[in-house]
Amino acid sequence: MGSANVDLVVRCARLPRPGETVIGGDVARLAGGKGANQAAAAARLGARVTLLAALGDDESGRWLGASVASQGVELVQPVRSPRPTGAAFITVDDHGENSIVVAPGANADLDVSGVDLADFDVVLAQLEVPDAVIADAAARSAALVLNVAPARPLDPEVLTRCAVVIANELESASLDLAALAHCVVTLGARGAVHYAHGVEVARAAPPAVTPVDTVGAGDVFCGAYTLRYALGDAPERALAYAVTAGALATLAPGAQGALPTDTEVRTWLERA
Ligand code: RIB
Repeated sequence: MGSANVDLVVRCARLPRPGETVIGGDVARLAGGKGANQAAAAARLGARVTLLAALGDDESGRWLGASVASQGVELVQPVRSPRPTGAAFITVDDHGENSIVVAPGANADLDVSGVDLADFDVVLAQLEVPDAVIADAAARSAALVLNVAPARPLDPEVLTRCAVVIANELESASLDLAALAHCVVTLGARGAVHYAHGVEVARAAPPAVTPVDTVGAGDVFCGAYTLRYALGDAPERALAYAVTAGALATLAPGAQGALPTDTEVRTWLERA
C-alpha cells in the first residue's frame, strides 16, 4: 500500500543549491510514487501484488492507474480522492544523484480501513501516506514491512509491531534499533545490513554498476526484499537478492525504468 505519483523529472549537470537556478534538459513524465514503485518491482520479480492507493479523479490518475495495471499489479482504490493525483518534482544530476519534492495530493486521503488486510501474506508500506493508515496496517496485517521513507517521527508502538522496518542510513539515525525485532538499513552503493534487536545478523554488498539514475532504487530494494521475506529466505539471502535488484534498477532513467526480472537478479547473483 502507498503512494502513486506522477514523476516530473528533469536532468541537469548538477543539482541547484538553495536560491540557485540551473538549466536542465526536457521534462519527462514518468510513473512513480514509493507505493507504486515497490509494487511494480515486486510484480516484475514474480510476486502476486495488489496495490492499495488513492488517485485523483483527473487525467494523471487515469494515466497512473493504467500504468500500474501494465506492470501486472492489481490496483484497488479504497477511496477516490477529490484532490489532484500525487506528483513528485525530481532533478537528477550527471552522476545519477537526485533530489525530490513530493506533492502528496490524493495520497493524503488514503484510507484502507475497509480492506481486509489479513488477506495478504505481507503488507509493504512507506511514509507518503497518513500516519493513521500506517497505524491501521500495523494493527491488522499478518506481517507489515515498513519502509520509513520519507522519514518522520512515528509512534514507537507502530514501529515495534512491524515484522521488518527498512530505512536508509539517514532515516535509521532516528530509530531505536534495539527496540526493533528486525531492521534493514540500506547503505546505497555499500549494500545493506540486517539488525535483529540492534545486533547485526547479515550484510550484503551489491554488484558494482555505473548508475544512470538512482531514483527508485530504494523502492526496488524494498519490493525485492519483501518478496524474498514472504518466501521465507534467510536474512543474508534476502539481502543479497534485494541489493542486486536495487543496483540493477539504477541502469536506466525513471523509478520504474529498469525494474529487473527474477532471472536477471539470479544471473547477477551467480556471477558474484
Ligand atoms: O522513491 C522514489 C519515489 O519517491 C519517486 O517515484 C517519487 O514519486 C517519490 O515518491
